[in-house]
Amino acid sequence: MQFDVDKMAAVDRYELLLGTVVPRPMALITTISNDGAINAAPYSLFNVMGHDPAVAVFSVLAQPDQRLKDTATNILATKEFVINLVSESIAESMNITCIDAPPGTNELELANLNTTASVKVKPPRVTASPVAFDCRFLTLLSFGTNQAIIAGQIVHAYVDDRFVRDRARGLVDTPELKLIGGMHGAKWYTKLSDRFEMERPTWAEWVRQGKAR
Ligand SMILES: Cc1cc2nc3c(=O)[nH]c(=O)nc-3n(C[C@H](O)[C@H](O)[C@H](O)COP(=O)(O)O)c2cc1C
Repeated sequence: MQFDVDKMAAVDRYELLLGTVVPRPMALITTISNDGAINAAPYSLFNVMGHDPAVAVFSVLAQPDQRLKDTATNILATKEFVINLVSESIAESMNITCIDAPPGTNELELANLNTTASVKVKPPRVTASPVAFDCRFLTLLSFGTNQAIIAGQIVHAYVDDRFVRDRARGLVDTPELKLIGGMHGAKWYTKLSDRFEMERPTWAEWVRQGKAR
């Protein structure tokens, strides 16, 4: 079946895109407003887009009333944010933080999530999150009034000691992080325990095996 994406209702496009591009990594983003209020919210339209420099991006969709989400407002005001990765053990708490509470509400308190001071930015990290990235705002790409992509440079990384295998080489025990992924629609998630491995092919090996034509 073909879909003329331009002609679809936005809500149906949402279902199509979020139902196919899976799993999405999960960022629980902490920010601070100009007057010092801590804010947290989950963002799964998120990924890292490079390592030299280390760049993370996420997408802010408009609130139903078209208001800019507090996360974006705070980042534009203070130029800092923290990306906390979400493990199975804090999945339910993360879900609580997406509540549409009024600006100034500390969603972390609602979700019983403690915070720890970050190393290079003012917003704190979520203590129970196994990985947190301190980010400095780089740029915002606006796509109309309804969505924007925010890019930040990761200037510091925290990884829970229990999961670090080789600090010098940045190696972590990824399966043990037990991170969750976002699946179809707005409600479904996945555990990342079903892995498989593939060696990347090289042309030299193809030639050696007589497969090159
Ligand atoms: C798992 C999950 C993923 C989400 N991903 C996004 C996202 O990528 N972009 C977005 O704009 N909203 C996303 N949301 C909704 C926001 O978290 C929600 O609108 C939140 O209230 C925004 O809070 P804020 O105004 O404090 O930033 C997501 C919600 C959940 C539960």
